[in-house]
Amino acid sequence: MASYLPTPDLSHLKSADYHNVYEPAEDSFLLLDALELEAPFLNDQLQPRWCLEVGAGSGIVSTFLAGQVLGSRAVDFGTCFVVTDLNPRALPVTQATWARNGLALHRLHCIQTDFIRGWRPAAQGFDVLVFNPPYVVTSPEEVGSQPRGRGGIDGRQVIDQFLPIVPTILSDRGVFYLVLIEQNRPQEIISIMRDQYGLLGSIVAQRKAGIEYLYIVKFSRDTSTT
Ligand SMILES: C[S@@+](CC[C@H](N)C(=O)[O-])C[C@H]1O[C@@H](n2cnc3c(N)ncnc32)[C@H](O)[C@@H]1O
Repeated sequence: MASYLPTPDLSHLKSADYHNVYEPAEDSFLLLDALELEAPFLNDQLQPRWCLEVGAGSGIVSTFLAGQVLGSRAVDFGTCFVVTDLNPRALPVTQATWARNGLALHRLHCIQTDFIRGWRPAAQGFDVLVFNPPYVVTSPEEVGSQPRGRGGIDGRQVIDQFLPIVPTILSDRGVFYLVLIEQNRPQEIISIMRDQYGLLGSIVAQRKAGIEYLYIVKFSRDTSTT
């Protein structure tokens, strides 16, 4: 998959920063590729008003969405960006990444919280929701806010906590992009979201990266039943 939009400038971050904050890797870059593929849909159809990235880390994904995918159209759409992270060290880094890439910080709301707990958008919900979760299969005790993602059993512990939240914060026309690996059982997650929450899922990007097989799954509401 060719990538044409430039990757955000992260040259302000040094190796020591990545002891505290997740260093972008193949999962992050596949998510950027998927958002780039989605750019015509996001700009021409969705024109999002509220965007949320859960687990912002270095800020590479929200910077790419705001700066490269939406770009100056975000001003026309009046788009506001919310990012959250459990890790208190991530949010100043995300702000620095936005600033480094020339993005207006008044459009960015940074919240240190678990998923999106304690915060609701003023509008009807989020039009774009993005999460590159801790998906790596580990022992249950390792799940937490470490910079390197730890996903517990089947890499699903954090993911499974977030799935029921998604329909409560997604706008009627909203879309949710989720990073998964094969061991997370993407098809099972697609079935859960359809059967329990009325959200339809499809794989919009996938790639083998080392020992991981990565997927980006896009969810939206099943409006055929309403
Ligand atoms: C795999 S990293 C992704 C970072 C960045 N979005 C990227 O793609 O490079 C996962 C991020 O989610 C954060 N995180 C883990 N559990 C979380 C939770 N329950 N609520 C909010 N953030 C969480 C971690 O601290 C980490 O920054």
